[in-house]
Order: sequence, then structure tokens, then C-alpha cells
Amino acid sequence: VSEAVALAHPNVALSKYWGKRDVRGNFPAVPSLSVTLATLTTRTRVRFGRSFAGDRILLGGATAEGTARQRVVELLDRVRGVAGDLGGAEVVSDNDFPTGSGLASSASGFAALALAAVRAAGLDWDASQVSDLARRSSASAARSIFGGFVELPAGEPDALETTRLSARAVAPANHLPISVLVAITTEAAKPIGSTEGMRATLERSPFAGAWLEEAPRLHARLRDALLARDFSSVGCLAESSALAMHASAIAAGVIYLSGATLEALTTIRALRGSGLAVYASIDAGPHVKALAQPADAARVRAALEGTPGVLRVVDAGVGEGARLVNGEASP
Ligand code: PMV
Repeated sequence: VSEAVALAHPNVALSKYWGKRDVRGNFPAVPSLSVTLATLTTRTRVRFGRSFAGDRILLGGATAEGTARQRVVELLDRVRGVAGDLGGAEVVSDNDFPTGSGLASSASGFAALALAAVRAAGLDWDASQVSDLARRSSASAARSIFGGFVELPAGEPDALETTRLSARAVAPANHLPISVLVAITTEAAKPIGSTEGMRATLERSPFAGAWLEEAPRLHARLRDALLARDFSSVGCLAESSALAMHASAIAAGVIYLSGATLEALTTIRALRGSGLAVYASIDAGPHVKALAQPADAARVRAALEGTPGVLRVVDAGVGEGARLVNGEASP
């Protein structure tokens, strides 16, 4: 039996990935740039053993079934395809935050799974290869392999399927101090998964073309602003990216925003109106992520905590990429 345990954090995309290339292999149609969080952790243990009867997968203490199980087995099969006969696998994965509700648990989950599976299989892969493996399961997971500010390019239309596409670090965590205040608005799972939401958006939204044209431009400007350590421009462009993504999705009937989402958005925009440099981001779920400078974090947190529909606020800084640890599978 060989085993490895990995930790990974979610990331919040400042410029959003929304939409896949129309080919196999899970290639994004637009580039994205994210910040890896310092809190909210997935811990995953993978063990391979020739005596194991099949794969046993425990996610959050429950045996995974259906699509959730299939996505994990697909990743394990990719690893077994390279490493040879490893036998069955036992996967035990736990999050210290709600799963499947737009808190990017697929990002931290598949990043931790990819790293633990590669090492348990004895493969001597670098971070770029692990990132490519994670991307095939969840494109945002490719970014959680790295810490700090991380970019995932769009898949090149003429070189897909067999090509490796990995995320890469753009700047370390201390490059630009940012507090990400996650306003949690529900504990429930989201009704539309991101793959289905993206497919519906590209198929049905009258604004899909506008999004696909605008996203790379926003991304390039945001990258420049980040490298120039221009917090206000980074925040402003991040909010624009989130709003443009949701505008295109909403027009296809793909609505992740709830009443509480709009309340939190209103709070952030009102704070900004009063002179505070704070900006909003929203992923494929109803939570709102406020981007602020650390000195303003307490004020933003208090305002969000007083917002109707906000259950609680998690204050996350900029953190590390996926890493191996020793020890038991449960935190
Ligand atoms: O990689 P997925 O399938 O978890 O999709 C992520 C989509 C967004 O979180 C909405 C945007 C992003 O770039 O993370």
C-alpha cells in the first residue's frame, strides 16, 4: 500500500473562467487569473493497494456515488494509466467549509486529490504536470496547485486534446496584500453545476459572444494592474469580470444570484460610494466575495455581517498552493 495526504485551498478568480472549448479534455475558452486563499482547506488522503477491491471514495464522511464518484475515478484512472497497475484506491477527503455551493470546493478538492494521487502513485511530477491533471477534472483546480496570484491561459483552439495546459504563478502571495471577505449566504448546494451553467450560457445566451470577446481583454488589463500593484484597478476589473460573466449567464436563465447576493453587492457598492476601496466578486453560487485592503477588512466584515441574508463572513488572506502533509486524513 502506498499513500499520500495533500492539502489545498480554494481560489477566487479575479478575472473569471466561464465557458469551455468545444472539444474533449476540459479546456477553458477564456483565460483567468485568481488569488489562492489562505483559509478554507480541503484535506485528501489517497492510498493505492493491489489487494483493494475496487475504489472506495469517502467525501465529507459519505461514500461518493454517481457523478461525484465518477469524477474522482476518472482522475485516478488517468494516474493509473501512467503509473501502471496500482490496484484499487481509497480516497478520503474532507472540507472545513460547505461543499458545492460556489465556494470553489471543486478547485481545492481536485487540486488536493491530484497532488495526493500523483504522489501516492510514486510519480515524480512537477507542479505544472499536477496542475494539468487537476484541470482535466475542474479547470479552476489547476490554479489551486499554486499559491499567490495564478493564471490559467485559455486552451489554444488548434492544439487541443493532446496538449498539456497548466496554470502558472504570476506573482507571490506578498505581491499585493488583499483580504478576501467571503460572505456566506447559504449552506445549501447550488442548483446548477458550473459545467452545465457554462454549457447553457454558450448555447443559449444572446450575450455569450460578447463575454467571450470581453473576458480576455479584462484579463489582460487585470494582469497589468496586478503587476503594477494597483489595488483599485485590480478590484474594479475583478468586479467587472464577475458582473459580465453573470450577465451573460443570467440571459441564458442560469441564475446563481439570490436576494442575499444582491444585498451583499449593495453593501459593497455603498461602502465604495463612501470612499472605501472595496470590490465584489461572485462565482457560480450565491456567496459574495469582497476584495479589500487588509487595513479596511474589519470595516467591510462588519458591514457584510449586518447585511440581510449573510449568515457569516470568512476573512481569507492570500495563501499557499497545494502541498503534501503527513498524517491522518481527517482534520
Ligand atoms: O472549474 P470549475 O468547473 O469549478 O468552474 C469555475 C467557474 C468559476 O468559479 C465561476 C470561475 C472561475 O474562474 O473560478
